Amino acid sequence: MGKIVGVGSLIVDIAAFTDHFPVAGETALGKTLRFGPGGKGSNQMTAAHRAGAEAVIIGRVGQDRLGELMLAHYRSEGMTAKYIKLSAENETGSALIEVETGSGQNRIIIVKGACAEITADDVREAESEFASCDLVVTQLETSIGSIMECRRLAEKHRKPFLLNPAPFQEVPPELFSGTDWVTPNETEAEFFTGIPVRDRDGAAAAAAALLKRGVKHAVITLGKNGVFYSDGNREILLPGVKVDAVDTTGAGDAFNGALAAALTEKMEIETALKFANCAGALSTTRHGTAPAMPTRAEILRCLKENYGI
Ligand code: RIB
Repeated sequence: MGKIVGVGSLIVDIAAFTDHFPVAGETALGKTLRFGPGGKGSNQMTAAHRAGAEAVIIGRVGQDRLGELMLAHYRSEGMTAKYIKLSAENETGSALIEVETGSGQNRIIIVKGACAEITADDVREAESEFASCDLVVTQLETSIGSIMECRRLAEKHRKPFLLNPAPFQEVPPELFSGTDWVTPNETEAEFFTGIPVRDRDGAAAAAAALLKRGVKHAVITLGKNGVFYSDGNREILLPGVKVDAVDTTGAGDAFNGALAAALTEKMEIETALKFANCAGALSTTRHGTAPAMPTRAEILRCLKENYGI
């Protein structure tokens, strides 16, 4: 079993399911409201854990009901909460999510709350985990200081660093330079490169631009159209796995967590992408984010059915 460590967001998702997204000023009728554990960081760690890795998150929650919900998730999954601190000042992060039932598409507003106050010191306190891990993983939902410290410790302990640059925002240029894995979706890839990603050529051009910024492996997720990979020598385009999607929220997190788990196992790159593709697709067949992450057995079944592996 490989081990992943990283700073990440712990956010409670409040999702309303509706027939159609309301326009400004409209009140739309919803069908269901669900509360559940979410946050890109925590979702990716959960996905990696269910895919077979040991996953160690560094984060913060508030001393409130939402924080209790997040900690209960870690207990029920059997994941360590050793580096999840309780904030003295801020509430637990939360996300307001609208899901359109027909398309499974979503719109999200996040309030970072305690996630925004995670410090570089919080990360340093977990340094022994960096020394013993196989991969460092982070996203952009915590403070830049904490993310840069993850990057520094990955370098210090010579561990590969995977950055899922979501949600997109300006970052210090050195965050990309020399980074082993960067995994934007189409929108994020366009934000960071200025190149629209609408087809294979767009994905290849955006990947090339990321490689030019010093990224070693660019992985651009294309939603239901699959994933594009390039390391400058090899390009792979994998179509999406066909499923009946009910909620696409967290699909990128399922992909990233499973990819991280596969990389710690030194899986060959095309197989690792297929493994992650299956995890992303399977997660859309259930409601919610962390609770929708597939198990390793489910991913392996999908690999067999779709790729004959
Ligand atoms: O990627 C989906 C996640 O983004 C949700 O769980 C929500 O919490 C936001 O962080």
